[in-house]
Amino acid sequence: MRIDVITIFPELVVGFAGHSLLGRAVAGGEVDLRVHDLRDATTDAHRTVDDAPFGGGAGMVLRPEPVLATVEAVDPPRPVVALGPGGRTFDQATARRLAGSDGFTLLCGRYEGIDQRVLDHVVDEELSIGDYVLAGGEVAALVVVEAVTRLLPGVMGNLASAEEESFGDGLLEYPHYPRPAEFRGWEVPEVLRSGDHGRIGRWRRAQSLRRTIDRRPDLIEDRGGLTAADRQLLVEFGLDGPAD
Ligand code: ADE
Repeated sequence: MRIDVITIFPELVVGFAGHSLLGRAVAGGEVDLRVHDLRDATTDAHRTVDDAPFGGGAGMVLRPEPVLATVEAVDPPRPVVALGPGGRTFDQATARRLAGSDGFTLLCGRYEGIDQRVLDHVVDEELSIGDYVLAGGEVAALVVVEAVTRLLPGVMGNLASAEEESFGDGLLEYPHYPRPAEFRGWEVPEVLRSGDHGRIGRWRRAQSLRRTIDRRPDLIEDRGGLTAADRQLLVEFGLDGPAD
């Protein structure tokens, strides 16, 4: 998969991409990450990429010329995705969609935003990583790169854990406990040490349901509410109280 990132802070992206699973995937060639410095496409002595908006108002905006010059010079993979707080919220379904593509390009906004003509004519979609405002799109781009690349075959060591995790089936993930069985008096739940894999599976599912009810009732609603089987599982483990 080829991923291009267009940014004024290439060293930030390259540094992050050198570590962990992503670093291995880049070194191993599973991910062809190409980072482009927007300032390389400027023609003035100050390498200016921003300007004040027509109509006035606070803040500066990314100018169209360096973005267009970069896109024309490198012919980056589509879709071209701009990161900004005005985009659609990035989620696991979007990560899965991008992971199923041959590649894509991330355009990091800075300042107050990106020239609207670039968004209209060059960018295919806009993504936000949440309802808060960052100083620029770089951290958001890294979020997208990490969430997508860990889904690629061979990038994550254990394929099953990519599938069982939070949002896999619209629920948050159940709690995990490694050794020791008791730590400072805090014990691992008995069921996980019972060896009864049927019961362990049901307990985990009940825990996922309970967490999702308490922390993300919107996800329960998206699934159309609790089924009779869900309610029965919650009762089995004494988790059927009212939401937090
Ligand atoms: N740039 C600034 N804020 C952002 C956000 N919430 N998501 C993506 N890019 C951003």
